[in-house]
Amino acid sequence: MISRTKSPWIHTLGMSMVLIGLPLLSCKKEKPSPASCPPRDTITYSNYVAGVMRQYCISCHSGSSPSGGVALETYAQVKASAQSGKWYSSMSQGRMPPSGKLDECTLSYLKKWIDTGYQP
Ligand code: HEC
Repeated sequence: MISRTKSPWIHTLGMSMVLIGLPLLSCKKEKPSPASCPPRDTITYSNYVAGVMRQYCISCHSGSSPSGGVALETYAQVKASAQSGKWYSSMSQGRMPPSGKLDECTLSYLKKWIDTGYQP
């Protein structure tokens, strides 16, 4: 007659799969993919980008001697910095703002603004 209890090693195997699986799952949760960001139609400078700049950047990047010589106060300035390639990479690489990397959704919207032609 076959015993109804599983052999101990099967149990151990099952437990270790759970233990390995948990950190993988929690890792996934920390970095939501842009696909899970709330959809936004048109990203323009005035309806979105200017607000992000105001909140995270212009405290240093404005006035008569902006940090790094980069001013981000107006549409023309932000567009010029974005076209140089440094604007987005400074954020996606987590260098700017110095206080900590922007979340993935904010980054994906800023990227969309570039990809859709820097709408004012
Ligand atoms: C607390 C002050 C501070 C804030 C806030 C800040 N920056 Fe900067 N930023 C600097 C300083 C200082 C430099 C020059 C030295 C360096 O490159 O780290 C700089 C340099 C830059 C440069 C040029 C060099 C590079 O790293 O590519 C860009 C582009 C830039 N910042 C973009 C931004 C953007 C976009 C934001 C907002 C998301 C931001 N910064 C927020 C202080 C700041």
